Amino acid sequence: MIRPTDYPGVHTDGKTLYTENLVPGVSVYGERLVREGTREFRVWSPRRSKLAALLFKGFDQYPLVEDSRVLYLGSATGTTASHVSDIVAQGTLYCVEIAPKAFQKLLLLSEQRRNLVAILADARHPDSYSSLVGEVDVLYQDVAQRDQARIFMNNVGMAGPSAIGVLMLKSRSVDTAAPPASVFRQERRVLEDGGMRVISVVPLGPYRGDHAAFILRP
Ligand SMILES: C[S@@+](CC[C@H](N)C(=O)[O-])C[C@H]1O[C@@H](n2cnc3c(N)ncnc32)[C@H](O)[C@@H]1O
Repeated sequence: MIRPTDYPGVHTDGKTLYTENLVPGVSVYGERLVREGTREFRVWSPRRSKLAALLFKGFDQYPLVEDSRVLYLGSATGTTASHVSDIVAQGTLYCVEIAPKAFQKLLLLSEQRRNLVAILADARHPDSYSSLVGEVDVLYQDVAQRDQARIFMNNVGMAGPSAIGVLMLKSRSVDTAAPPASVFRQERRVLEDGGMRVISVVPLGPYRGDHAAFILRP
């Protein structure tokens, strides 16, 4: 039986995570749909989504609620973003993506999902979308770029006073050769020197060995 977890909007059958499908009948990226009574759930695998991996590892400051306003930088075709859209069903999810091909799919997703706004832009230049986005409760980033800490800090102007930041940091994008743990220490200093409060750093192994989730107070 599928039941709620302690994370609002996230469900489980004891083994697998699910979100309730905002657009019943539609599978976004081939994920399995499961019906229970009148409700439909989408399987959310930690192998497909770093946010699901973080939930499996434990996310103490989990910030998403039904009416959250979220800015998502690097949403690609919307695999993870679609689950966030399920969770913030009454909120708004602004998705920024730089690659035109991925953006095309994201745009189709935004046509199906009333709370998802697709923005074709470079997250290095938030001036191009900040007036559209306004203030958000959650700033989520997964861009896999060398300057990912800097990109995150360029966007904190949109974070509200009690916002939570989630930076999915890929060590190999910063340094292909260095051990992930030393890259994470170095990037933590970059973020702290930039005025960010790092609440926790959660390595995403075994799901993503070279990634850690940085949970921040921007
Ligand atoms: C690892 S993928 C994201 C996967 C996605 N977050 C998910 O979980 O479904 C990284 C994405 O960031 C995008 N990206 C990289 N640099 C960017 C930038 N400067 N601005 C916006 N998007 C960027 C890439 O085009 C790519 O689609």
